Amino acid sequence: MSFNVYVTRQIPEEGINLLKKFCQMVEVNPHDRPLTYDELLMQVKGRDAILTMLSDRVDAHFISEVKSIKVIANYAVGYENIDIKTATAKGIIVTNTPGVLTESTADMAWALLFSITRRIVEGDKLTRAGKFTGWSPMMLLGGDVVGKTLGIIGAGRIGTAMAMRSRGWCMKVLYTTQSNRNTVLEEMLGAKRVDLETLLTESDFISIHTPLTEKTRHLIGAKEFSMMKKTVYLINTGRGAVVNEEALLNALKNKQIAGAGLDVYEEEPKLKPGLAELDNVVLAPHLGSATIETRTKMAIMAAENIIAVLNKQKPKNCVNPEVLT
Ligand code: DGY
Repeated sequence: MSFNVYVTRQIPEEGINLLKKFCQMVEVNPHDRPLTYDELLMQVKGRDAILTMLSDRVDAHFISEVKSIKVIANYAVGYENIDIKTATAKGIIVTNTPGVLTESTADMAWALLFSITRRIVEGDKLTRAGKFTGWSPMMLLGGDVVGKTLGIIGAGRIGTAMAMRSRGWCMKVLYTTQSNRNTVLEEMLGAKRVDLETLLTESDFISIHTPLTEKTRHLIGAKEFSMMKKTVYLINTGRGAVVNEEALLNALKNKQIAGAGLDVYEEEPKLKPGLAELDNVVLAPHLGSATIETRTKMAIMAAENIIAVLNKQKPKNCVNPEVLT
């Protein structure tokens, strides 16, 4: 059988090489930019599989136009960019890359937490600008982390890894989850499952890890900011739209919260006007899984998912297993 696969962005070569071993035709978007919706649609017609990025919009119209596709392998753990219902109805298998990016994303959450709390980016700017004129007793004072309360919104894989790292700073951990109690966090850290309101009012650091769904869109808005401590730092490495960015902007501007460390945005890659002008926020360009090791594992995992489906086997990371039955 001759298989024809389209990869929507350049990814680590280990994934591409694996695809090339099993598929006769593997084409990769040659540009250093995402294709537009229409360009992508043109490219994927007649293919057997497509390896997509979280920035590719694969909606109902797109799916109805790509009749030959058997599998959409998303290069991300999140898959809200794909209309799963329509894919399922059309019998298209959708896969993701869970697990392999857990640790790097948890590290990123901590990197942001320390960057904002210890004012690293402000300090870097000041030093580069030649404004460091000597040690100063009141220069760029931040906040302590040790012994404080960490609130994890969404204690799944990444939320758990984030929380586990708090042992180094002897923190108290509160968490919310949409699924069962997190016994690992409870047994290893003495973490407490609480309702959202308790987490918002009692935490010194709040880290968002819940997936974006219709239920979690704008989970954190003006009302929720008003419940938080004035000294709280908000970290978001999950999905931007879990937070109402307008409300976040206001909370930061009005010093209703101490600061935020963001890796994700509501209308990525656009930022809410005004956000980039604030000093009490650190902004990263969605780098959660951006390590060589993690991205390589993601590339291999996505390729393996495609190869399994094309060979009529069960892929390891299917998000719509109903299609398989
Ligand atoms: C994911 O996989 O959903 C991450 O956000 C990618 O960095």
